[in-house]
Amino acid sequence: MILVTGGAGFIGSNFVLDWFDQSGAQEPVINLDALTYAGNLENLIALSNEPLHQFVQGDIGDRALVSRLLTEHRPRAIVHFAAESHVDRSIHGPSAFINTNVQGTFHLLECAREYWQQLPQEKASAFRFLHVSTDEVYGSLGPNDPAFTESTPYQPNSPYSASKAASDHLARAWYHTYGLPVLTTNCSNNYGPFQLPEKLIPLMIINALAGRALPIYGDGRNVRDWLYVGDHCAAIRCVLARGRVGEVYNIGGWNEMPNIEIVSALCTLLDQRSPLTAQRAGGSHAQLITYVKDRPGHDRRYAINAEKIANELGWKPIETFATGIEKTVDWYLNHQDWVAHVQSGAYRQWINLQYGHAASSDGQGKQSCSQQ
Ligand code: NAD
Ligand code: TYD
Repeated sequence: MILVTGGAGFIGSNFVLDWFDQSGAQEPVINLDALTYAGNLENLIALSNEPLHQFVQGDIGDRALVSRLLTEHRPRAIVHFAAESHVDRSIHGPSAFINTNVQGTFHLLECAREYWQQLPQEKASAFRFLHVSTDEVYGSLGPNDPAFTESTPYQPNSPYSASKAASDHLARAWYHTYGLPVLTTNCSNNYGPFQLPEKLIPLMIINALAGRALPIYGDGRNVRDWLYVGDHCAAIRCVLARGRVGEVYNIGGWNEMPNIEIVSALCTLLDQRSPLTAQRAGGSHAQLITYVKDRPGHDRRYAINAEKIANELGWKPIETFATGIEKTVDWYLNHQDWVAHVQSGAYRQWINLQYGHAASSDGQGKQSCSQQ
């Protein structure tokens, strides 16, 4: 039995779905998720008849609930995904990030410690608290800087990355001070099925198909390292099974790309998959690309050195960007219902706040985004 937090979100739901696929449904999962705007039970529909999956709606900061779940179910591990995860939202409203990412993680660590301390010795030494984090805690790289390693100093620049950095420090301290068997992973940008269209790749796919503007922040030359979500989930399973307690593992796709290249690649793929919408966009979806005002404090470049996890644990990504992005585009094309459902009132409010009113209405977006 494992306890997963945030298992109705993008990566968490992929992890839980893969868990049952890969483990042949042998080990039960308790899935604790508050169902914020980012949590979506539709992601877990494939598990509706899976008796080994139990969903519990609740907050990681609710100590009474978390302690009860731990005492009742006696998990051998906690895999902690739950977080506020979107940089742009953290700029508009940082307080939810402090509440969940910092305080929520603190409460979860305390519940885990209390539970772990009363386990019999054998179970206590086998117990794991796997804290899922991001490469953004390391800050921004110059064009020729070496990629982030596990010993790169923390220099978080956004409210999101600062709150994740704080949670990483708490997890580290709970290991060093109390001996709680913590593992931490810092991963690069994920993409794949079930990602909300507030993040770059799904936003661009969905806007392109709807004939709306493709808003590129700044000059479009900001670089991220992209990893297919299934590879991230495999890396987490690997760290959970074989990671050394107290260690940090960087996870990445060895795939650095500037945003404009990501969006151009998506447009090319969508032109092939959806010629009708390409034609409507003026021949190619690339016609919809629009440069907009930059994100405040926009980190220029992230790059991950994932040698440690490769050398120690034998994990490497399976998907290349070409294969991962094809799977992703096809998933969105084949799941128009999911897309329609997540574009609810709350989603529209966000799009209006971030991109301006007309940016969310068909056909008008391109003109409405402020040109650089
Ligand atoms: P997401 O925003 O899609 O999902 C977060 C989930 O956590 C949602 O289901 C939400 O309902 C839940 N949640 C939020 N606050 C909660 C609370 N207080 N109590 C319980 N549940 C709560 O995020 P994601 O992209 O799936 O990211 C998952 C984790 O991976 C995060 O910790 C994030 O920092 C980390 N990460 C994400 C990426 C990425 O590219 N998305 C990359 C590296 C690391
Ligand atoms: P995002 O998916 O929000 O991930 P993160 O900020 O955590 O890396 O953004 C990825 C990159 O894409 C980032 O450099 C910001 C940029 N971006 C745009 O250019 N336009 C957009 O509309 C969005 C959402 C992101």
